[in-house]
Amino acid sequence: MCGIVGYIGEGQAADIILDALKRLEYRGYDSSGIATLEQNALHLTRAVGKLSHLEAALQSKPQAGQIGIGHTRWATHGGVTEANAHPHVAGNKVAIVHNGIIENYAELKTELQAKGHEFSSQTDSEVLAHLFLDALGQGQTGSAAMQAVLAKIKGAFALAVMLQEAPDQLFVARNASPLAIGIEDGLICVASDAMAMAHLTRNVIYLKDGDYAALGVDDVQIYDRDGQRANREVIRTTASPALIDKGGFRHFMEKEIHEQPEAIAHTISAMTAADGALRTGLSEADLSDIQHLVILAAGTSNYAGQIGRYWLEDIAGIPVSVETASEYRYRAPAHLAGGAVIAISQSGESLDTLMALRHAREKGMKVIAIVNVPESSIAREADVILPTRAGPEIGVASTKAFTAQLTVLFALAVDFGRAKARLSAEDVAELQQKLLAVPGAVGAAIASFEQVQPVAQHLKKTPSCLFLGRGRLYPLALEAALKLKELSYIHAEGFAAGEMKHGPIALIEDELPVICLLDEDTLSAKTISNLKEAEARGATIILIATQTIAKQVDFASFKVVIEDCDPLLAPIILAVPAQILAYQTAFEKGTDVDQPRNLAKSVTVE
Ligand code: M6R
Repeated sequence: MCGIVGYIGEGQAADIILDALKRLEYRGYDSSGIATLEQNALHLTRAVGKLSHLEAALQSKPQAGQIGIGHTRWATHGGVTEANAHPHVAGNKVAIVHNGIIENYAELKTELQAKGHEFSSQTDSEVLAHLFLDALGQGQTGSAAMQAVLAKIKGAFALAVMLQEAPDQLFVARNASPLAIGIEDGLICVASDAMAMAHLTRNVIYLKDGDYAALGVDDVQIYDRDGQRANREVIRTTASPALIDKGGFRHFMEKEIHEQPEAIAHTISAMTAADGALRTGLSEADLSDIQHLVILAAGTSNYAGQIGRYWLEDIAGIPVSVETASEYRYRAPAHLAGGAVIAISQSGESLDTLMALRHAREKGMKVIAIVNVPESSIAREADVILPTRAGPEIGVASTKAFTAQLTVLFALAVDFGRAKARLSAEDVAELQQKLLAVPGAVGAAIASFEQVQPVAQHLKKTPSCLFLGRGRLYPLALEAALKLKELSYIHAEGFAAGEMKHGPIALIEDELPVICLLDEDTLSAKTISNLKEAEARGATIILIATQTIAKQVDFASFKVVIEDCDPLLAPIILAVPAQILAYQTAFEKGTDVDQPRNLAKSVTVE
């Protein structure tokens, strides 16, 4: 997390960097800052809170300079204060911005303090500024200082450094955290995401792990981790240069909920061959050779993977395990021959998922990635990319990326089922037709905003609630609970409905909201019994369900009902009212829907 930007050119650096930071605010919004260099002097403006606070500070005190660096922060080490905001400056000679975590910062800080360095923040990042100052004090050049600093630090990082003694250069480095360099006539820029500078240039270099570079206009010197000059390809980025707006909606999340029919339809159409057949893009050899799958993902993407497991096992008969990415890497998972991993990530930058993917690759596994950002780190490291075509997702809470991930996973199950001859041509055609009906069904489900309103009014007053589901709707219950807690800050837990009697039922007391996701399938009678057990103990039952089965639950206090749909695809369609419930409850509570507290869209720390 955290977004970093650097710029050298003919424009006013502070204005250009601020504009780029607006495109990176999804990476963190605890504080922000910009440093520029002008007439041999470093200028610094920092502000706590949203970027609008930094903008206001710069308006009241403009900052000159044609070279600068900027940062938007998601706090890791040290509270949300101006002193902890980046850029960090040392000796009025060095300014740095950093994304990631310097794991050995404490010992480095102690060493530097022993040498007389004084620190003004609680961050790990400030250590970098002082390490540079120390190296420069020993007469090293910018590049040599960078090499010396990199030799000392441990962790995942992307950093940009501006030196008073080198007013035409920026020094940058990366290890596991993303960093892109943009090159154009008369300017050079860097950013955590090519999207932040796509309006300045389409020519982008992605540094490799361990690389560092000295950058000037028309002068790019890249070195690998051994200090050898390295050539890195310049690519034309496909990142969108447009600054995305809310298109008349109250929030990006509301807009993104409404964009789901289109996102799903685009995702299906990208998986449709010229002859109309459903093809995910996985080769026929892979589809028949891969014998089992390990899904690696975090948060909402993990829940998509858990739903996908039901389809892959049921439709294709492939054994699947779904792993919490942050845990997988630190276990000693037994790797069976003939398997592949599927890394699922909206951003393609979640460090936990990236590291888990690398771990699996080291064990010799093929890596398939389901990602929404085609130039992301996970996409670039995968053997096969199965893209979701959801378009940029700005709201921190994932909505359209989730349903697009489910769409790819369902298609993948069908593709495996076909290639492994588990499905007949008629079965495949029937499943494809079912999938093609999903965008329309999702569009109809979006109309549940009105039905959700009284439920949101009720929920906003509650400190805690439970979500229940069975079968394919169990992981959706987990996702619905995550959505509600991250947006409204209401404590919410998801459970498999059948698991309630094994312990969680003890939580039920008078009027505890129990929200059940229900459709008409083989398990629905059992789920209704589980709900009855909750109701008998005083719970307030809230149903999010398809029409016919909803009629059987006459004891629910609230119902959000959508049209009947094929149970196989119900998780995609029922996800919509669950998202709307989280959205409306947060709206009613007045929380920050698009940028909930403590969160960031792209989580690039472990
Ligand atoms: O970009 P990714 O899909 O890898 O992100 C994974 C999680 O951080 C993400 O899904 C998170 O849980 C969202 N805030 C959920 O709405």
